[in-house]
Amino acid sequence: MRVLLTGAAGFIGGQVAERLAAADHDLVGVDVLLDKAHLPGTDLPAGVQRLDVRDATGLDAVLPGIDVVCHQAAMVGNGVDAQDLPGYAAHNDLGTAVLLAAMARAGVRALVLASSMVVYGEGRYTCPDHGEVTPLPRRGDDLDAGRFDPRCPRCSALLSWGLVPESAPIRPRSSYAVSKVAQEQYAQAWSTLTDGRCIALRYHNVYGPGMPADTPYSGVAAVFRSAMARGQAPRVFEDGGQMRDFVHVADVARANVAALGRIADHPVGLTPYNVCSGQPRTIGQLADALAEAVGGPRPVVTGEHRAADVRHVVAAPDAAREGLGFQAAVAPEEGLRVFADAPLRPTR
Ligand code: UD1
Repeated sequence: MRVLLTGAAGFIGGQVAERLAAADHDLVGVDVLLDKAHLPGTDLPAGVQRLDVRDATGLDAVLPGIDVVCHQAAMVGNGVDAQDLPGYAAHNDLGTAVLLAAMARAGVRALVLASSMVVYGEGRYTCPDHGEVTPLPRRGDDLDAGRFDPRCPRCSALLSWGLVPESAPIRPRSSYAVSKVAQEQYAQAWSTLTDGRCIALRYHNVYGPGMPADTPYSGVAAVFRSAMARGQAPRVFEDGGQMRDFVHVADVARANVAALGRIADHPVGLTPYNVCSGQPRTIGQLADALAEAVGGPRPVVTGEHRAADVRHVVAAPDAAREGLGFQAAVAPEEGLRVFADAPLRPTR
C-alpha cells in the first residue's frame, strides 16, 4: 500500500515509519518539526518532507496515488496553559480538517488516526452499592486528607476502578483532550461525506527510546526518566496508586501496521480501539521499576496532586485483539527496564 504518514519525524511517527517500511509499504513521510518536540535546527529524517498539515496546497501535491493516510502529526501534552489553546486548535483541529478535505479531493478514503485515551477523561468506576457510576469531581478536603479515589455521585462511597471499553463516554478534560476528540469527530463527519473508513487508535501512556525528554508537556514516564538522568529521585504524586497502562512505542507502531492491514475490512465510519499493553501498573510501580533498573535514588511519594489529573484510566485491550489482531508484545517489566537508561530526544 502507498501510505502518507504525517508526523513521520516524531517519537511515535518515527517508529511507525520503520515498521511500515519493514512491512513493505510504500511510504511518503511528512513532518513540520514543531518546536515543542524538536530542537531548533533539527534535520528531517531521510525521506521525510517538511509539510504542515494545514497546508492544503502541499497536501494536494503528496496525496494523489495514496491508499491510506496514517495521521500521527499533532501537538501533544496535556495543555498546561490557556495560551496553548490556539496551538491545539490550529495543529490538531484545523490540521486534521484540512487533511480530511484534501483527502476527499484526492479520493483517499482510508485514515488511521492517532487518538488518545485522554478522550475518556476519568476511567471507569464502580460503587459497591450502585454499580457503574460517573464519579464526582474529587473534593479538595479528600485530596488534602490523602483520599485520592473519586466518590460515588449517589452515596459518596469511594469507588473502585475497572477497564475502559471503547464505548465509554467521551469526557475530555484538557485542551489537548478536546483536540483529540475533535480529530475523531471530524474524521467521523468526513467518513459520512465520503464513505471513508477511519480507525482511531486510542493510545494509552506511550513510552520508549527516543521519547522527548522532560518538558512541561511530557507524560510521567519521560518526567521520571529525565529526573533519573539528572541523578534525582522520581517524584510520585498523590499516593502513587494512580493506575495507568504503559504501552511501548514499538507496540504502538505494530498497532498502526495492523490497522493499515485491516482497515479495508472495517465498516464505513470511525472505529476506535484502545492501544495498550493490557498489563496496568500504578505510577508508584512505574517509578520503582525505573529506579531499580538503574540503581538510582528511591522514588519519593510527595502526596501533591494536580487539578487536571485523572485518578485511574486503564483500557480494555479486547477490541483491538479481536478487530485488529493486535496484542502488545513488550511486557512492562522488560520495556521499562530498557527504557530506564535508553536515550531520550533532547528538547531544550
Ligand atoms: C498522559 C499524557 C497525555 C497522553 C496520555 C496517553 C501528558 C502531560 N499527559 O496522560 O497527554 O495523551 O498520557 O498517552 O503528556 N505524575 C507523578 N509525578 C510527575 C508527573 C506526573 O506522579 O512528576 C503522575 C500524575 O499525577 C498522574 C500520572 O503521573 O497521576 C500520569 O501523569 P501524566 O503522564 O502527566 O498524565 P496522563 O493523564 O497519564
